[in-house]
Amino acid sequence: MNDTFSIKGKVAIVTGGGGVLGGSIAKHLISAGCKVVVLDIREENVNDRVEELKQMGGEAIGFVSNVLDVEEMKETRKKILDSWRTIDILINAAGGNMPGATLTEEQTVFDMKISDFEKVTDLNLNGSVYPCIVFGEVMANQGKGSIINVSSMSTLSAITRVPGYSVAKSGIDIFTKWLAMELGTKFGEKVRVNAISPGFFVGDQNRKVLINEDGSYTERSKKVLARTPMKRFGDINELNGIVQFLCSDAASFITGTIIPVDGGFSSFSGV
Ligand SMILES: NC(=O)c1ccc[n+]([C@@H]2O[C@H](COP(=O)([O-])OP(=O)(O)OC[C@H]3O[C@@H](n4cnc5c(N)ncnc54)[C@H](O)[C@@H]3O)[C@@H](O)[C@H]2O)c1
Repeated sequence: MNDTFSIKGKVAIVTGGGGVLGGSIAKHLISAGCKVVVLDIREENVNDRVEELKQMGGEAIGFVSNVLDVEEMKETRKKILDSWRTIDILINAAGGNMPGATLTEEQTVFDMKISDFEKVTDLNLNGSVYPCIVFGEVMANQGKGSIINVSSMSTLSAITRVPGYSVAKSGIDIFTKWLAMELGTKFGEKVRVNAISPGFFVGDQNRKVLINEDGSYTERSKKVLARTPMKRFGDINELNGIVQFLCSDAASFITGTIIPVDGGFSSFSGV
């Protein structure tokens, strides 16, 4: 049988595994035969997700862990290694925009609270950098592993209202390339780092800005879809293929890339 894309038996950590995107990826990894570690700051999210993964017949463990707390993650790392001895995959899906850091239609950048800017950049940049350091060290020392960060369309050209988020995700792009260089040159070709860049998917964080209460599209939605050749939003499950590919041997010569999954949004000028 052809197992080029197989990731069976690999130990995968999903930060933000209790959320929409991380949860969908965690379920896919279980269905592909991985052992999954769910990390999330919200206890209820962790417990519910682990239960769901186990009910799928998979092996899953979970930890309430803050991706901004390096010491706590080091303790979690020890517990993961005690249970499963290795870490093969890290998916950094903890993150997202925050209400205070998203400007309203009426606000300008001069109304932005600096504390909200700091919070959103901290979570969306350091919240992936720190797990890369804590869990990536295991991969570096064992000479193999695959890290996937989550970027955003807001890194390509300016998207209104989300300055902090855009800055942080742009940092993710260059950190992905930088870490790929660092680990590839110093720890061997089997330690790979890539990012996926989702286009527009309707999730808990952006539902209100994309969908009106009566179910119709907002003006913002219409602008997004006008620039999306496929003329629709993504289904969260449409990220699974690229994640499995990047974690598998099929991607053995791929590191430092940022791959859009966006229905063509990033390649279309809109004209
Ligand atoms: N949904 C989209 O359309 C979309 C598009 C582009 C990028 N993204 C990115 O994908 C990632 C996941 O987005 P989502 O839509 O699944 O969001 P989500 O809010 O559903 O999930 C995020 C999860 O991260 C957890 N989390 C938050 N802070 C944390 C912390 N400090 N430590 C540990 N866990 C923490 C939350 O509890 C939550 O379960 C984010 O980085 C987001 O920016 C999403």
